[in-house]
Amino acid sequence: MDRKILLSEQDIPTYYYNLLADLPSPMDPPLHPGTKQPITPDDMLPLFPMSLIEQEMSAQPEIPIPEEVREAYLIYRPTPVIRAFGLEKALQTPAKIYYKYEGVSPTGSHKPNTAIAQAFYNKVNGTKKLVTETGAGQWGSSLAFACHIFGLECTVYMVRVSYEQKPYRKTVMNLFGAEIFASPSNRTEAGRKILEKDPDCPGSLGIAISEAIEEALQDENTKYSLGSVLNHVLLHQTVIGLEAQKQMQIAGDYPDVIIGCHGGGSNFAGLTFPFIRDKINGREVKIVAAEPISCPTLTQGTISYDFGDTAGFTPLLKMHTLGHDFIPPTIHAGGLRYHGAAPMVSKLLELGLIEARAFPQNEIFSGSTLFARTEGIIPAPESAHAVQAAIAEAVSAKEEGVEKTILFNLSGHGLLDLSAYEAFLNGKLVEEKQFSQSQSA
Ligand SMILES: Cc1ncc(COP(=O)(O)O)c(C=O)c1O
Repeated sequence: MDRKILLSEQDIPTYYYNLLADLPSPMDPPLHPGTKQPITPDDMLPLFPMSLIEQEMSAQPEIPIPEEVREAYLIYRPTPVIRAFGLEKALQTPAKIYYKYEGVSPTGSHKPNTAIAQAFYNKVNGTKKLVTETGAGQWGSSLAFACHIFGLECTVYMVRVSYEQKPYRKTVMNLFGAEIFASPSNRTEAGRKILEKDPDCPGSLGIAISEAIEEALQDENTKYSLGSVLNHVLLHQTVIGLEAQKQMQIAGDYPDVIIGCHGGGSNFAGLTFPFIRDKINGREVKIVAAEPISCPTLTQGTISYDFGDTAGFTPLLKMHTLGHDFIPPTIHAGGLRYHGAAPMVSKLLELGLIEARAFPQNEIFSGSTLFARTEGIIPAPESAHAVQAAIAEAVSAKEEGVEKTILFNLSGHGLLDLSAYEAFLNGKLVEEKQFSQSQSA
């Protein structure tokens, strides 16, 4: 059998799959932070264009992908599914391991799938500039790229610790014409408040979101863009799973286990939601979200209404959360340093349709180093959590002597995260403390 399962350009999906339409029980609505009443489309209009607000609330199962967006996807989609023969051999496992590789995108991760869609809808709704946050820089560079395609300006608040750990991500964003500020910054009230309390604050996604929203609210032609968590972001990412379903069909296999790493939920949702539709319709498949033990939102967070950002500007979302003022330890998987989880992913966990597992930093780097040596791709530290979860499944298949088919999302490459690998190879990677409830507010 072939190692790479490739699709032709005509196979790029023509619609996004909206799991909201098929959920067995309804979601709790986001609440207005002031009135605590369900938010209305008009409440969201200062931040998002109407087309995206409609998608956020849509009950339509399939939402057509505009031709302009499909044309931009042609730059890197369809992405390959690859059979990890090298890793299987090294693990001596009877399991078959497949991965969907999103690192072939221009910025090296799955993030352009929604960045392109969001930039497009903003453009047609008259937006001139988008403001966003970024952790490791994958999202910021993807939005910078997408804004460049559709002629929008772009400003990015980058979490300070990542700004220092990953200097070349700034260059990528600059190359696509974006301006970047380390967060917390002195440019916003939210940033200044944090810096007054702690001038050395490493930042977090929650703080950077507050800064980006504050800036977006100051100008009606500027909108805010989020790289994860919200329904419409997860929706755009379903191109990953829709393609993967066709590819698994070509391989003549159906996965027993599907895995994605989890930060805010977008790549996990992107791969798994089309398969969860099958699961709701009676198919048996285990679905696992992999996260860091130092920011274990799904495995240790409580499910409650909380803000999506630190300053409390966003609507209240019903989600798994460690508390909106929790500042996660400075692990290298910057994209997983988020206190919350997508409300839709939280709901699926509550319904028992998915499970979650947490891994320590050194363990995930040892897994991703083995993966790099056997498969030739250096995983992004975020994606390394999915790699390690897949390895754990393959090892248990070996111990149990069962043949299992595993599919995971390799959401990005780590070629701009080499300081993390350097620290790991030199034995200098600090093992962050396991989360304990006293750390959260
Ligand atoms: C490569 C990669 N994978 C995963 C993530 C986590 O985000 P999400 O859970 O939204 O996929 C990020 C976020 O920056 C990322 O860059």
